Amino acid sequence: MTAVATTTDCRNDCAVQSDAADLSTIGPLTSVVGAAELVPLTSGDQIRYANFDYAASAPALTAVADAVAASVSQYASVHRGAGHLSQVTTRRYEQCRDTVRRFVRGRTDDTVVFTRNTTDAINLAAHCTPGDVVVLDIEHHANLLPWVSRDNGSARIVSACDTLEDTLAALDAELAAAPAALLAVTAASNVTGEVLPISRLASIAHRHGARILVDAAQLVAHRPVSIVSHGIDYLVFSGHKLYAPFGSGVLIGRSDWLDAADPYLAGGGASAQVSLVDGPDENCASTAWHSGAARHEAGSPNVLGAIAIAAACEAIVDLGFELIGLHEAELRARLDAGLAGVADVTPLRIFSDDLDRVGIAGFSVDGHTPRAVAEYLSDHHGIGVRDGKFCAHPLLARLGHTDGAVRASFGLGTDSADVDRLVTALTELTRIAPGKAHP
Ligand SMILES: Cc1ncc(COP(=O)(O)O)c(C=O)c1O
Repeated sequence: MTAVATTTDCRNDCAVQSDAADLSTIGPLTSVVGAAELVPLTSGDQIRYANFDYAASAPALTAVADAVAASVSQYASVHRGAGHLSQVTTRRYEQCRDTVRRFVRGRTDDTVVFTRNTTDAINLAAHCTPGDVVVLDIEHHANLLPWVSRDNGSARIVSACDTLEDTLAALDAELAAAPAALLAVTAASNVTGEVLPISRLASIAHRHGARILVDAAQLVAHRPVSIVSHGIDYLVFSGHKLYAPFGSGVLIGRSDWLDAADPYLAGGGASAQVSLVDGPDENCASTAWHSGAARHEAGSPNVLGAIAIAAACEAIVDLGFELIGLHEAELRARLDAGLAGVADVTPLRIFSDDLDRVGIAGFSVDGHTPRAVAEYLSDHHGIGVRDGKFCAHPLLARLGHTDGAVRASFGLGTDSADVDRLVTALTELTRIAPGKAHP
């Protein structure tokens, strides 16, 4: 099996990279499942997969897969079984809520609901939010569409400005102009990786009597989040972007709106008492619903998904955000410097301010469609990136990329050889005439 080496002539061409970044090798920070997976190239060779699509879905941490495997052997029905393993599984599932709460520094009385993913969590929040919601136009569709398509309040969409400061002022003005129940905002852009200032956004919302929901899908794996210190009312995220791809997500936040709303799904688990005689509705049915997480978790929950999320939280705490931040900063500096050395590559940014960024680089390559770039990187270099509009069509339109762009995103399993391979491949691509990259 031959691993295809990066071509030395391209390496030597990355002058900006050599000038700007320390080229010492950086290993992966921890072990992820599938790190050694080989993929085929059009040449007939095979190469280790270079995964630059962490922002879409991150590989499982080995620690997470191990925790899930250990739990599978003791898995049994959750919540209503009297058997020993049912009790073990139920205890484990409920403990996952506490692990999540500690991970994001939640209040003791916050409700932790396990959902399918961030999209599901925001739809649940939209179902429970009584009144208008203010959102920016830079959001992932998951934090736009649930708000625009509901009947318990309207969505007021604020256009982001060129600078973050002006954007914060625009949000402030919108919330001052008319009361809103909620400001729903992303913590980090899934297109550019730019990190928004959560505490300042929370202060703006609270100053005008609104609550804040933070879409932390792109942040929780990369930066510490504190519900208490940042002043967050509701926080949502997905397990599969937190190295726990087992089908669960989280909504954590204040319980009053959650308890006041009808159950998100009707069914067993959410209902405390059901009677089909003498009830108030037209079928004589009456139902008493649980409060707390159970109210919105009807049906059998995804226990292994919750266990995976809790294991990821623990593994990340063990690694420490300081080390995670350093690892990402070093790789990002190397990638930024490398991309800056490829003449035809233009990075995407929402704000002209120099903001902190997680490991996401959105960019375009002059003369090549995003799909052609992604296919070239995969077919000739074994690199997986994302191309398209990243479920953020309004943002891509704002940025002038109605045909989409390319996104390279990385994380704990990424090393400097991956970054170098990506930069080398893009350098090679830009030497090939448009349309010829994919013979
Ligand atoms: C910022 C942001 N919010 C929400 C979502 C939706 O996440 P999920 O597909 O896990 O529901 C994504 C997914 O890419 C995202 O990047």
